[in-house]
Amino acid sequence: MDDTAVAGVAEAFPRVDGVLHCEEVPLPELVARWGTPLYVYSQGAIRERYRELDDALAPVPHLIAYSVKANGNLGVLRTLAELGAGCDIVSAGELHRALLAGIPGERIVFSGVGKTVYELAAGLRAGIYAFNVESEGELCALSDLACAMGTRAPVALRVNPDIDTPTPHAYTRTGHAATKFGIAAAKARGLYKIAAKMPGIRVRGIDVHIGSQILEVAPFRDALEYVLDLAHDLRQAEVELEFLDLGGGLGISYEGGERISAADWAADIVPAVAQTGLKLVVEPGRFLVGEAGALLTRVLYVKEGGGKRFVITDAGMNDLIRPSHYSGWHAVEPVASPGRERARVDVVGPICETGDFLALDREMELPKPGELLSIMTVGAYGFSMASQYNQRPRPAEVMVSGSDATLVRRRETMDDLVAAETEL
Ligand code: LLP
Repeated sequence: MDDTAVAGVAEAFPRVDGVLHCEEVPLPELVARWGTPLYVYSQGAIRERYRELDDALAPVPHLIAYSVKANGNLGVLRTLAELGAGCDIVSAGELHRALLAGIPGERIVFSGVGKTVYELAAGLRAGIYAFNVESEGELCALSDLACAMGTRAPVALRVNPDIDTPTPHAYTRTGHAATKFGIAAAKARGLYKIAAKMPGIRVRGIDVHIGSQILEVAPFRDALEYVLDLAHDLRQAEVELEFLDLGGGLGISYEGGERISAADWAADIVPAVAQTGLKLVVEPGRFLVGEAGALLTRVLYVKEGGGKRFVITDAGMNDLIRPSHYSGWHAVEPVASPGRERARVDVVGPICETGDFLALDREMELPKPGELLSIMTVGAYGFSMASQYNQRPRPAEVMVSGSDATLVRRRETMDDLVAAETEL
């Protein structure tokens, strides 16, 4: 690629005089300050994506509940909170982060199949907008708890519409009947009627989430149709609703091709929602932050063996697990582009597993040891899925805005690795 890294992230990560930048900051400068591996985010890109979606949803009352699991860094959450975002959480830990970042309880929805009583109580205390309840057991536990706490829990049932969702990997499909997610279509109506009579429950909405990295509108439309049908039946049964939550899942471009624009997506969804008079909640994660992040890594060694050429980097599967866990494809760009010969290589990390790779069989400019590479489009499910496997401290994270760069999480230290352990 000539001038830009990948179309779609071009503005966030432009190449200027051969050197990759984040907004106006040359990436080598960030590495000089904070080392590698290093996660770098463009605040401008996050804001732009949020505004794109917010504008597309403008015709209906709506809440953009950012899915914290995609990237829970407080800097990211504060950036979105300032724009008016709410969030979708799946644990007490995510609730803690959301509240610290200044996201008010009334803009938080709580999803997840396995909320503990402790987590339900934390949600009630925070006065969240809704619990997306996924089973009858959870509904009963929540009602009992709310009664004991002298309150009523606002609830949507997460329904399972039994839709086969096209996503790049089976692990990210959640809309078909045979997953653990949601309440079976056949049971949803009955459970709503029970919920409406429970002393600790206030029915507030319907929730659905069919999967992640979806690049077509049709599955969303199918899910919406199912939800609208249910909403209609519930009205007939005099169960009052306030909102429809269509979950997250809107895909992005990893390979630089077209992605669905928020406007195109909304054009198919918003008019039907407008007719109901209900509020629309969405739970995007990847769409808001995915293209805004890069992972900078240094090449340690280049070696050949078994007919292959390996580029060994100081970032591995512990820093970015998407390639090995979901066969996720991420562009790998030389940070300074010296115009070298191209070669077919595996870009691999230092972890002691054959599954430790960032890119396989990739044709790219052959880098030399000491040079920097940038792994693109890792703002979502990058750092948030990082681990300390092989006892490697997790990377630092930096937020860039224009020509300013701010460290938003320091690199972990050796002491951090053992900080939680106690003496035998
Ligand atoms: N809402 C719920 C209930 C979810 O389970 C998820 C994602 C989202 C919203 C946000 O989905 P998004 O807009 O980001 O697609 N680690 C995988 C993705 C797992 C998604 C899990 N749930 C990956 O790296 O591809």
